[in-house]
Amino acid sequence: MDELKVFAPATVANLSCGFDVLGCCLDNVGDEMIIRKNDLGKLRITKITGQDLPMEIDKNVAGVAVIALLEALESNQGFDIEIHKKIKAGSGIGSSAASSAGAVFAVNKILGEPFSNKELIAFAMQGELLASGNAHADNVAPALLGGFSLVRSYDPLEIISLPVPDDLRFVILHPLIEIKTRDSRSIIKQSVSLKQAIHQWGNLGAFVSALYSSDYELLGRSLTDEIVEPIRSILIPYFDELDKISLENGALGFGISGSGPSVFALCKGESNALKVKNAIQEFYENKDIDFELHLSEINKKGVKIV
Ligand code: HSE
Repeated sequence: MDELKVFAPATVANLSCGFDVLGCCLDNVGDEMIIRKNDLGKLRITKITGQDLPMEIDKNVAGVAVIALLEALESNQGFDIEIHKKIKAGSGIGSSAASSAGAVFAVNKILGEPFSNKELIAFAMQGELLASGNAHADNVAPALLGGFSLVRSYDPLEIISLPVPDDLRFVILHPLIEIKTRDSRSIIKQSVSLKQAIHQWGNLGAFVSALYSSDYELLGRSLTDEIVEPIRSILIPYFDELDKISLENGALGFGISGSGPSVFALCKGESNALKVKNAIQEFYENKDIDFELHLSEINKKGVKIV
């Protein structure tokens, strides 16, 4: 096998209660990438469509992730990378993570899978470091593993896959304004009070427990964030109204997707998700902001060959 085409999924990081440690993989939103071996002993980005992104390998997140993988193998194998972006940069649904995860997944497969998908996370994190100045794993882990991922520890890196209750659906609203992760990280406070920490770890523990017991109501109650959301939500047009509309229409919970501006409503069942999606659409259509709206199941596989 010398060439592979992959679907590289979008992801929702943080999920309110798990800043930098919790993420989930979406099903029908994502990029396509084509990776093929070349005989030049060189890594090249040969084509990018859909977004204006750097073609230089050391400035492109897919490039640096693959460099990290090839260095670990001490390999000089060359590859050509084509990236067809459907996820917009600065959207909050893991655009850079999709590129990094898709690239290392495909290169690893072509090389005969020297690494497990879990081991690829550390290489894909190099893409996040380039994109945002911080090597967080809460987008690349679910992109590579599917489902929900929890980062128990960054040093050493330990990622735990969590169960996916069958009826969960995400409604994602992406107001078409760009918020760079780097910028939205820079406005967060670097310390939290003990009271805030207690609130946060209680909810994170409850969220994980609710995934195991498929307790949808508890999942919803756990989606709170007193640390990051109050600051970041200021950048998101009509955040409070969207929160209210989602809950009034029966969503389990509502929050910021990753570093925003996308927001998510977590719903139980397709019909409730459709109701929430329609209510959000009706509200946002009257505003002066272009937007994209997605309804997605949870993708249990992560990056896949297409
Ligand atoms: N945990 C990261 C952040 C995710 O919120 O900055 C970025 O998508």
